[in-house]
Amino acid sequence: MADRVRWGILSTANIGRAALVPAIVGSANAELLGVASREAERAFGYATRYNIPNSYGSYDALLDDPDIDAIYIPLPNSMHAEWTLRALRAGKHVLCEKPLATTAADAIAMADAADARNLKLMEAFMYRFHPQISAVVTLLDNGAVGELMHMHAAFTFRLTRPDNIRFQPELGGGSLMDVGSYCVNIFRTLADEEPVEAQAFARWHPNGVDEQMVGTLLFASGLTAQFDCALSLARRETFLAAGTEGTLELTRAFLPGTASTTIMLRRGYNDVEQRTIAGVDEYRLMVEHFSDCILTNTRPLFDAREAANNLRVLEALYRSAAANGRPEQII
Ligand SMILES: NC(=O)c1ccc[n+]([C@@H]2O[C@H](COP(=O)([O-])OP(=O)(O)OC[C@H]3O[C@@H](n4cnc5c(N)ncnc54)[C@H](OP(=O)(O)O)[C@@H]3O)[C@@H](O)[C@H]2O)c1
Repeated sequence: MADRVRWGILSTANIGRAALVPAIVGSANAELLGVASREAERAFGYATRYNIPNSYGSYDALLDDPDIDAIYIPLPNSMHAEWTLRALRAGKHVLCEKPLATTAADAIAMADAADARNLKLMEAFMYRFHPQISAVVTLLDNGAVGELMHMHAAFTFRLTRPDNIRFQPELGGGSLMDVGSYCVNIFRTLADEEPVEAQAFARWHPNGVDEQMVGTLLFASGLTAQFDCALSLARRETFLAAGTEGTLELTRAFLPGTASTTIMLRRGYNDVEQRTIAGVDEYRLMVEHFSDCILTNTRPLFDAREAANNLRVLEALYRSAAANGRPEQII
């Protein structure tokens, strides 16, 4: 393979145009070769607007192009498993949007399919590539809050268009799938262990999806974590780690943009320290990491089996919310 991975995008999704097109184009080891849409004209218009050399009037046509090495999949959640499997069968590496699938079983099948073909597969939780997260890992490891006992996260925003994919149950919509999945993911990333029990309460949208959810996780060590997520509340994306000696807070935990960010450390009312982290495009760092894994045949930092563990937690939270908060084992 050459020194750059040649990417194609399946669909003209908003997140592609807003974040991944600039990320791929700006990456040192990647180039964007094509975009596909269900409508040829839409693909052509998108390709023209973003200077992408090729457009395709079907997803299959892009998968059939031998010049494409890697596919980015920003389709509705319910379509992630099917199109990832089709892309893998076509011999392509896949960076798929979060959540990787709508069930843990599907995510395992996707991981097996990638491994069987020695192809790379990763879930596009881009926030993990921001240096503020590695800084938090180091701070917690070095005892910045003492013993970590509890975490809290929130990811909410207000969606007003009823036709949005997030309000459609058949497309895998819902606030937990969309933004709560980040909260669960950051807990698991920082806890260094998997949660064993979940409890949740939801406010249901007339369409049947959870438009708001509050969830609690219990880890085997006794560590607890709590989050709320919503498609109906003002924008918040916070994270807090509470320990025996202090607390650590992020006010822009998941989408800090490219401006600098801050980590707040408190060890008492008068002992407050603010760490500044330089701004960066976390999407570009994700694309560069994934491209590097392809070029060097190494495993991504976060593989598809890790994504299946996140989905196990989401499944338990949904079971609990459907049973009005009954505690559920994570299996
Ligand atoms: N990592 C992040 O920061 C981030 C941010 C936002 C969203 N996401 C994820 O990215 C994915 C897409 O989200 P989005 O908000 O960008 O979606 P979107 O703008 O609604 O785009 C989804 C695309 O999927 C295609 N599609 C195929 N079948 C469809 C159907 N039945 N209904 C609607 N669209 C269909 C359409 O493209 P064509 O018509 O061109 O085929 C459409 O443009 C989701 O999985 C979401 O969770 C991630």
